[in-house]
Amino acid sequence: MIKVSLISLGCAKNLVDSEIMIGHLHQAGMVVIPEAEKADVVIVNTCSFIDSSNEESIGHILEVHQQRGLKKRRQSQKLIVAGCMAQRFSKDLTTELHDEVDAFIGLDQVTKVAPIIEAIYAKERGADDAPASFIEGRSTYIPDYDTPRFRLTPRHFAYLKIAEGCTHPCTFCIIPQIRGRHRSRTVESVVAEARQLVREGVKELNLISQDTTFFGMDTWEQRPNSRTPVDSSRGTALTTLLRELNAIEGEFWIRLLYTHPAHWSDELIRTIAECPKVARYIDIPLQHISDSMLQKMQRETTGAYIRDLITRIRAGIPGIAIRTTFIVGFPGETEADVDELCEFIRTAKFERLGVFRYSQEEGTRAAKMEEQLPKKTKEARWHRLMKLQKEIAAQVSKSYVGRTLKVLVEEPGVARGEADAPDIDGRVYLPITAPVSEFATVRITGFEDYDLLALPVGQEPLVRKVARQAQ
Ligand code: F3S
Repeated sequence: MIKVSLISLGCAKNLVDSEIMIGHLHQAGMVVIPEAEKADVVIVNTCSFIDSSNEESIGHILEVHQQRGLKKRRQSQKLIVAGCMAQRFSKDLTTELHDEVDAFIGLDQVTKVAPIIEAIYAKERGADDAPASFIEGRSTYIPDYDTPRFRLTPRHFAYLKIAEGCTHPCTFCIIPQIRGRHRSRTVESVVAEARQLVREGVKELNLISQDTTFFGMDTWEQRPNSRTPVDSSRGTALTTLLRELNAIEGEFWIRLLYTHPAHWSDELIRTIAECPKVARYIDIPLQHISDSMLQKMQRETTGAYIRDLITRIRAGIPGIAIRTTFIVGFPGETEADVDELCEFIRTAKFERLGVFRYSQEEGTRAAKMEEQLPKKTKEARWHRLMKLQKEIAAQVSKSYVGRTLKVLVEEPGVARGEADAPDIDGRVYLPITAPVSEFATVRITGFEDYDLLALPVGQEPLVRKVARQAQ
C-alpha cells in the first residue's frame, strides 16, 4: 500500500485543495500519514503569493529532497510539487528542479493525484512514459458538493470554497494569473456540502473564495466583468446562499471571508443583519484609502465609496466586527497618502486589521511601475500602522470586558468568539473544563493585547492575573 505525506502551505483555499487531494488518495486506497520520513510519496502543496511564499515553498521542496538523499530507506521516495507555485512557474520549475522533483501538478490536477502517483511508479517500471509536469494551461477546475475531501481542520470548523479564481484587475496581485478567472459553484452545490458538514458536527462554516461577494456574478449575462457596478438594492447569489445556509437546522456560525468592497450591496448588509447564524464579523480587504493609491492599485473603489460603505455596514449590522488589510509602500505612495490612511484607521477603528508591506511581484503590472519604494520606507510605514492599530486593538479588547460572549471552544482552555476567525484573529482564554468543539457562554474578565480572558457565566475570578481589568 502506497504511503503518502502532504505538506500544505499558503492560504485556506490551498488547504481545501490539499483536503481534496487527500480525499482522492484515500478513495484510491492509498494511506496518508503525517510523517514525511516514513512516506513513499511526499506532496508539497505550494504557495506563490509573494516572494517569501516562493522561498518557503522552495525551502520545503529542497528539505524533502535533501532528507531522502541522506537516509537510505528514503532514497526511493517520490516528491510531487503541487499548488500555486507549480501552476505559476510550471515551465521554469520543470527545468530548474528536474532532478529533485518527480512530478509537478497544477490546480486542476487535485482530483487526479492518485493516477499521477501510479503513473510515476509505472514510469519507474518502464511501463509508461509519464511526463514530469502534468500542468495543462489555465486553471478552470471548481469542486462540487460530492468531491471527495478529507478535512484537515478541527472537527468543529470547516472551510467551504464557494468559488474559485478571480477576475479583478488589482495591479499588485498575481493570483488571477495563477488561479484563473472567477467561476462560482451553484447555490445548491454549496448548500448540499454545508448540510453534510453540519451533519458531521461542524459548528462554523467559513465561506472562502478569492472574492466571496462576487459569488454568482460571473453567471450574470449583463455583467460579464468585475468592473460593472453592482445594483445596490438587488439581491445576489450570495444573499440567496446566505439565507439558505441560515435555514439549515442546527447551531452553527457562517463566517464570510475575503469580501471585495466593490461588490457589497445594501441587500447583502440587510441579509447579514437578518440571518442570525451569519457571524457578526466580516473580512473586507480595503488595501488603501487614498484615491490615487486605490486607482493605481485598480481596486475599483474610491476613498469616499469605502468610507460610506463602512458607515452603512456599521449602521446596518449592529455589533459587527470588521477585519481589513492594508498595503503600505505601494509604488508612488507618499507620506500624505500614509497620513490619510492613518487618519482613516483612527476614525474607522477596525476591530481586526492586518498590514502588508508591498511586494514587487514578477508578472504583475505594479511590478513595472516607476517610483518603487525602498525597503526601509515600507518597513517604517508598516511599523507606523501596526503601532496605531495596537492602540485601537487595546481599546477594542477593553470594550469587551464585562460582556457576556458566546464562544466556540477550540482546545482545552482556548476558544474563539464571533469576532475572531480561525488562524488569523485573537483568542478567548477560559478554564480548561469547557468542552472542546462546543459553544460556551462566558463572561469576559480581562484582556491581553488581542486576546480576551473569560470565565463561565456566574463564576468570579479568584486571582487577578496579568490582565488589566475594566475600571
Ligand atoms: Fe493562496 Fe498562496 Fe495560492 S495565498 S491562492 S496558496 S498563492
